[in-house]
Amino acid sequence: MKSIILTIAGAGISLMVAAQQKQPVYLDVNKPIEERVESALSIMTTEEKVSLCYAQSKFSSKGVPRLGIPEVWTDDGPHGIREEVLWDEWGGANWTNDSCTAFPALTCLSATFNPELSLLYGKSIGEEARYRNKTVLLGPGINIYRTPLNGRNFEYMGEDPYLSSRMVVPYIQGVQSIGVAACVKHFALNNQEEWRGHINVDLSDRALYEIYLPAFKAAVQEGKAWSIMGAYNQFRKEHCCHNGLLLNEILKKDWGFDGVVVSDWGGVHNTDQAAKNGLDLEMGTYTNGLTTKGNFPYAEYYLANPFLKGIKEGKYDIALLNDKARRILRLIFRTTMSANRPFGRFVSPEHSEAARKIAQEGIVLLKNEQRFFPVLPGKFKKIAVIGENASRSLVIGGGSSSLKVAYESSPLDGLIAKYGKDHIVYSLGYASGPSVYGREEPSRLNADSLIAAAVKAARHAEVVFFVGGLNKNHFQDCEGGDRRSMSLPFGQDQLIDALLKVNKNIAVVLLSGNAVSMPWINKVPAIVQGWYLGSEAGNALADVISGEVNPSGKLPFSFPKKLEDNAAHAYGKISYPGDSVNQYYKEDILVGYRWFDTKKITPQYAFGYGLSYTSFDLGTLSADKSIYSKDEVIKVRFSVKNTGSQDGAEVTQLYVNDPVCTVSRPVKELKAFKKVFLEAGETKSVEMEIKVADLAFYDEGKKDWNIEAGDFVLQLGNSSANISQKLKITVKE
Ligand code: BGC
Repeated sequence: MKSIILTIAGAGISLMVAAQQKQPVYLDVNKPIEERVESALSIMTTEEKVSLCYAQSKFSSKGVPRLGIPEVWTDDGPHGIREEVLWDEWGGANWTNDSCTAFPALTCLSATFNPELSLLYGKSIGEEARYRNKTVLLGPGINIYRTPLNGRNFEYMGEDPYLSSRMVVPYIQGVQSIGVAACVKHFALNNQEEWRGHINVDLSDRALYEIYLPAFKAAVQEGKAWSIMGAYNQFRKEHCCHNGLLLNEILKKDWGFDGVVVSDWGGVHNTDQAAKNGLDLEMGTYTNGLTTKGNFPYAEYYLANPFLKGIKEGKYDIALLNDKARRILRLIFRTTMSANRPFGRFVSPEHSEAARKIAQEGIVLLKNEQRFFPVLPGKFKKIAVIGENASRSLVIGGGSSSLKVAYESSPLDGLIAKYGKDHIVYSLGYASGPSVYGREEPSRLNADSLIAAAVKAARHAEVVFFVGGLNKNHFQDCEGGDRRSMSLPFGQDQLIDALLKVNKNIAVVLLSGNAVSMPWINKVPAIVQGWYLGSEAGNALADVISGEVNPSGKLPFSFPKKLEDNAAHAYGKISYPGDSVNQYYKEDILVGYRWFDTKKITPQYAFGYGLSYTSFDLGTLSADKSIYSKDEVIKVRFSVKNTGSQDGAEVTQLYVNDPVCTVSRPVKELKAFKKVFLEAGETKSVEMEIKVADLAFYDEGKKDWNIEAGDFVLQLGNSSANISQKLKITVKE
């Protein structure tokens, strides 16, 4: 009897085994990804492989329906999950379940100088993407801030390659920990919007490697990004979406990138280069950036039928196709078909809290005479809030990063909540037009009457909060065009002058992703740089202004006094914006503070600068030794003391200079930073590490990084313009 049961049970087991064996390896979530990729690839037809490589709708591409391999759904990015759009058009699909949390724009994140918040940001936005069933989040953006005119600077992380690198890595890790691929963009040299679709950028190899590539390299090698987006512009006469040097040589060969190269929307221009030069997934062809719509013949995409035909005719090696398909399958197995993929959540209280925290820490206090701030609730009976940005939505517009949000606390909302509605009078003061893509739309309101009403409000108030800056209209902080000047738009300078005539007690709060000129700077006692803060904008601003939160943000880019002081603008048109065909980055490696310091030009506000309501002292800087070999790590130590009476945080910054070198080097380059939180009166010891290898310059002769033996000067400070201590160390042969 026993043996019969065993036999039957045994047959059952072998049947189960047989059934299990029938399951192809690619479906087995416990198998290594590479095995799953090869398993799927081995049973796919050429047609199926090709169909992975191009879009099927505005934001999605095909999977392999026959095999149950799901589609790839992408979505912008980078500071909120964009609403659903129509299948073939940019227009919203009017779903009612897709209003997201808006997180602060990436300039604000970068201004926190706090990589832990970057991780929180990545996880939170990753969860929102996951809840909405997205495979790929189209962000973060890490193009270097080269000119204050670039309409898209607000989507990026500032002017410094080291800061961008340190901030981008945790963002990617956070997003991908939720099983959503980050898509780092725009690779590379998309540093302006003017003529972005065709301008041919050239620059020295040194500037390329030292300034424009490091954040991408960190994103790939440390962040392990699963996808990257090519840029619209050309680099050395080849479009970046199919640029052999950038994609095949640098990204895939030198950096070992194993993810998917996604084209920017409409950034592909021919089949041959798309097939051979490292592009994997073609999106948005026959669309002009954000503007055109229509019924596109997806099958006619460059990587669709023309590519298939080329393969069948033997023009393209099947290995090219296999490589693309392999990368796309890998992305799918890493995301939608991975084991234990978290479920995500959408507009959760935790996301609001994260957005508020990041906003609070990113806000930068630029000027604070006579301790204007904090303005404690109850201090004034009558506060005039003036300026359109106090009440206008700043999450709508700006191009592809425009968001449909579940809620947005405006600065006015936040101030009313903090100070009470009986104490606040609001006046618009100036008005821009509506946000219409592709053109400037003036306001229909009468500017003189707006000024008159605002002046009246200011005259009768004890204090004025002017809330202005730029907005997301075309030719402001908006994709597809650059700003026309560095000035504040919509008559704000005149308005501030008019207000000053009746009330000198004015704080200027600037909401923007770019530096603006400040002709009134010496006449106002307080200035705040408030970025685009997302859903929690008003709450976070009010927290800082009222002193509930002590500001600790630092500028991630320099504010020049005037446009001509900025490096990109110092060499005429060929440097910026180019002659409409070509452009050469003549300032070379001297971008941002590297330029200001080396050329001894005083910026309005320096990179790394930002005030606090308390004060800090940096103790003596010491290193573990004085002579290092090239493969060692320099360990430095110093103390920070909060010498004021309020808890707060200081961003300690370590810059390095190589005074004697065969090539000219910037006076300062950021190599380490740490944000230190200190209670009033508290002292903490801080340690930082710098690899000697990171002191190298890119040697164009050797086509490699090079450190020349000799002395280096470590410079410790709390902004690029405020160095309190220097320490010499020596690197030996
Ligand atoms: C932008 C990308 C964006 C894509 C999809 C393009 O115009 O340059 O950053 O992800 O559109 O919206």
